Amino acid sequence: MLSILIILLSFPSIVFSTQSFKKLQLPSPTMGADSFAFDSLGKGPYTGIADGRILKYYEASGAFADFAVTSPNRSRVVCDGTNNNSTKLGNQCGRPLGLGFNKSTGDLYIADAYQGLSVVGRNGGLSTQLATSADGVPFGFLSGLDVDQQTGHVYFTDVTSVYKINDFPWAVAFNDSTGRLLKYDPKTNKVTVLLTDLLGATGTAISADGSFVLITEFTAKRIIKYWLKGPKADISEVIVHLNGRPNKVKRAAKGEFLVSINIEKGFLVPELFTVPTAIRLNANARIMEKKSLRAQYNTKFIGEVQEFGGALYVGSMFTDFVGVYKPGLTLH
Ligand SMILES: *[C@@H]1O[C@H](CO)[C@@H](O)[C@H](O)[C@H]1NC(C)=O
Ligand SMILES: *[C@@H]1O[C@H](CO)[C@@H](O)[C@H](O)[C@H]1NC(C)=O
Ligand SMILES: *[C@@H]1O[C@H](CO)[C@@H](O)[C@H](O)[C@H]1NC(C)=O
Ligand SMILES: *[C@@H]1O[C@H](CO)[C@@H](O)[C@H](O)[C@H]1NC(C)=O
Ligand SMILES: *[C@@H]1O[C@H](CO)[C@@H](O)[C@H](O)[C@H]1NC(C)=O
Repeated sequence: MLSILIILLSFPSIVFSTQSFKKLQLPSPTMGADSFAFDSLGKGPYTGIADGRILKYYEASGAFADFAVTSPNRSRVVCDGTNNNSTKLGNQCGRPLGLGFNKSTGDLYIADAYQGLSVVGRNGGLSTQLATSADGVPFGFLSGLDVDQQTGHVYFTDVTSVYKINDFPWAVAFNDSTGRLLKYDPKTNKVTVLLTDLLGATGTAISADGSFVLITEFTAKRIIKYWLKGPKADISEVIVHLNGRPNKVKRAAKGEFLVSINIEKGFLVPELFTVPTAIRLNANARIMEKKSLRAQYNTKFIGEVQEFGGALYVGSMFTDFVGVYKPGLTLH
């Protein structure tokens, strides 16, 4: 009873309002808006889609428009509108997965599954490639990204050093543990390897005080905490074991974290029985809220769950829209 009261007191606006669900439709026939970013003016979401473009959503027109691309060889004729996951097309078109703004400069950092780490200015266009490898090991496919707004450092993850994105199911099946947590310093233009041996490192987010980052491990079904500062600096620990596969992790308004998890309930064909779920962790990584998104996403795997302006944005590789829940998470 007491704990319920504490939860109610900590999330009053969320608990006492009714939920609405709206779809921000992607331009037909594209799909795969997996993750998002909002700029310093609160505009967006910006999102990367399966054909390699980064789009920006305009509230006034209620539609997405082109913002940026990551591949210098991208041809609109070949790439626009394709949802073709071949490596050949990926190399040419790009596949942006993780996005994050440096809010003071307006620069958008991009973790792309084929083009590595890059950055693009306020006006968009072709991004500038910053790195495609670290410590001599090429990125397999980058996925998670977050920018430390205090230092400008960019934290990002390579899911695996061995597999490309379209072979990811094999990485999971073979329990691949070549994922890495990386840091890019814009002042030195250098990438540092912070953690190796991660099992499907799909997402990362920095804490509100900049003292640690969380990393989601899709394959190991857990969340890792890596300390950046203090007595435990450079030490990592497993903080949560989950009953499903986490994709992205994002920091929310009050310093908590939102994680998407895909709970596979089936035995023979797990994807037929997946329950896409959003969870909220407090700053100490305790699970505070949990909500099934089955009603809107059926059994589709979800990508990022991000809170912005009192709404919850949900992405998926497998939908042609970005889902928006207002006012946000409600208790299960
Ligand atoms: C882009 O095109 C150039 C010139 O044709 C080629 O050298 C390069 O390998 C291509 N890059 C990619 C990523 O396909
Ligand atoms: C996907 O692209 C590959 C290589 O460009 C091509 O061979 C294949 O036919 C395409 N598949 C579809 C479904 O368009
Ligand atoms: C590409 O991937 C999406 C989602 O991962 C899938 O729905 C689609 O069928 C795939 N397309 C091809 C041509 O394989
Ligand atoms: C990004 O943001 C940080 C903190 O606001 C700032 O120190 C840094 O110079 C910015 N620019 C770049 C290119 O990192
Ligand atoms: C996967 O690999 C990790 C270490 O790399 C190991 O701890 C774990 O037991 C393995 N899991 C399975 C199911 O093989």
